[in-house]
Amino acid sequence: MIFTETPAYFDLEVKVNGENVSRRVPTHQRLLDFLRETLQLTGTKEACGEGECGACTVILDGETVNSCLVLAVETHGSEIKTIEGITSGEPPAEIQETFVAEHAVQCGYCTPGFILSAMQLLNSQTEITDEQVREGLEGNICRCTGYQKIHHAVANAGTKP
Ligand code: FES
Ligand code: FES
Repeated sequence: MIFTETPAYFDLEVKVNGENVSRRVPTHQRLLDFLRETLQLTGTKEACGEGECGACTVILDGETVNSCLVLAVETHGSEIKTIEGITSGEPPAEIQETFVAEHAVQCGYCTPGFILSAMQLLNSQTEITDEQVREGLEGNICRCTGYQKIHHAVANAGTKP
């Protein structure tokens, strides 16, 4: 029988929020921990840690992913966008304004994940139906708002000229 030893560390190169990043990372480190602990990008949240709640949503090469289910090493050579990449600009993105206008935030823990999922959804189509909003956000859980205000915020952002 042949045993191959998995290396403990990997020299990871990624682009995060437009910046090239090079770090030696443990091969078992999750993308979520790489972002929060190594890069101090704590806007990405952990709740379930099992791919069920969407609190840890980031955009990886143009697709939303649960960063608790992705190893950092799997993102080598990729482009990652976190909530910090959305919120560092001025003025705030339209979707952020509609979240505020619709009172779609209470504790705010789920909000970064919802904003990123909503942005992906809104970028993928010109007009958006209520059904598409529900489907587009079904991977994100909110324990406070009851969803109506979040769905209104996203639908309103999707219907503005
Ligand atoms: S923390 Fe990743 S999906 Fe819940
Ligand atoms: S606002 Fe508290 S979990 Fe959504």
